[in-house]
Amino acid sequence: MMGRGDRHRRRIPHPDRAIWMALLALALGGIGASCALAKRRNAVLEGDILIGALFPVHRQPSLKTAYTRQCGEIWEQYGMHRIEVFLKTLDEINSDPSILPNITLGCDIRDSCWYPPVALEQSIDFIKNSIASRERSLNRSGQASRQPGSPPINKPIAGLIGPGSSTVTIQVQNLLSLFNIPQVGYSATSKDLSDKSLYKYFLRVVPSDKLQAKALVDLVMYFNWTYISTVYTEG
Ligand SMILES: *[C@@H]1O[C@H](CO)[C@@H](O)[C@H](O)[C@H]1NC(C)=O
Ligand SMILES: *[C@@H]1O[C@H](CO)[C@@H](O)[C@H](O)[C@H]1NC(C)=O
Ligand SMILES: *[C@@H]1O[C@H](CO)[C@@H](O)[C@H](O)[C@H]1NC(C)=O
Repeated sequence: MMGRGDRHRRRIPHPDRAIWMALLALALGGIGASCALAKRRNAVLEGDILIGALFPVHRQPSLKTAYTRQCGEIWEQYGMHRIEVFLKTLDEINSDPSILPNITLGCDIRDSCWYPPVALEQSIDFIKNSIASRERSLNRSGQASRQPGSPPINKPIAGLIGPGSSTVTIQVQNLLSLFNIPQVGYSATSKDLSDKSLYKYFLRVVPSDKLQAKALVDLVMYFNWTYISTVYTEG
């Protein structure tokens, strides 16, 4: 039997990949659309380069609503605050001529609900656009197959930021890496994600839990403490 901690360490066997591809085929074939559940909102800002982002705008579904993937309450600290910071950063980059001159960054922000099925559903949507545009660029007839007024939402994302938790990040990474889409995590700290042989399209901006735990132990040892209490908040 595998413990919870071992779950993410195992290599992805082929049946898993087969399931991914089947899921994807369902979604792409529109069969998924007929059983589509809760309609989700996304925030799009047009730009030359589109960055996808996943934030937990809502809490994860309750036991009762899990089967419809109906998310929970609005999550201000982890969702709304981070979206505000993301948009502010985007504005600053776009208005600073010394960073990416003459290139406007756009974004497509979606809700992950801190829940793998929802995050995967949103990732499939991102990938759908990537595949569509790859097919367009593979058209070697020399004609621009993209119409001038075609919807900007179909532009593929250059990369994905998020989602928040390590569990969700690992699942999304398994999917994105099949399509070579880079992913940058802002709060996934699981040390499993440091394994480049498994998660080669993943990078994060926060240190791994391993270092955090080591720093805490070093502190305890240095001060010869024999007893510690920890205080935890959701923020
Ligand atoms: C940006 O665009 C302006 C106006 O078209 C041009 O003068 C300038 O050289 C461009 N800068 C870069 C770095 O391409
Ligand atoms: C490639 O693009 C041209 C021009 O839009 C179109 O006529 C042709 O059918 C496309 N070919 C494929 C294989 O999609
Ligand atoms: C911790 O214990 C060691 C060995 O007894 C002692 O040398 C050291 O000064 C202690 N450190 C602190 C911060 O009290």
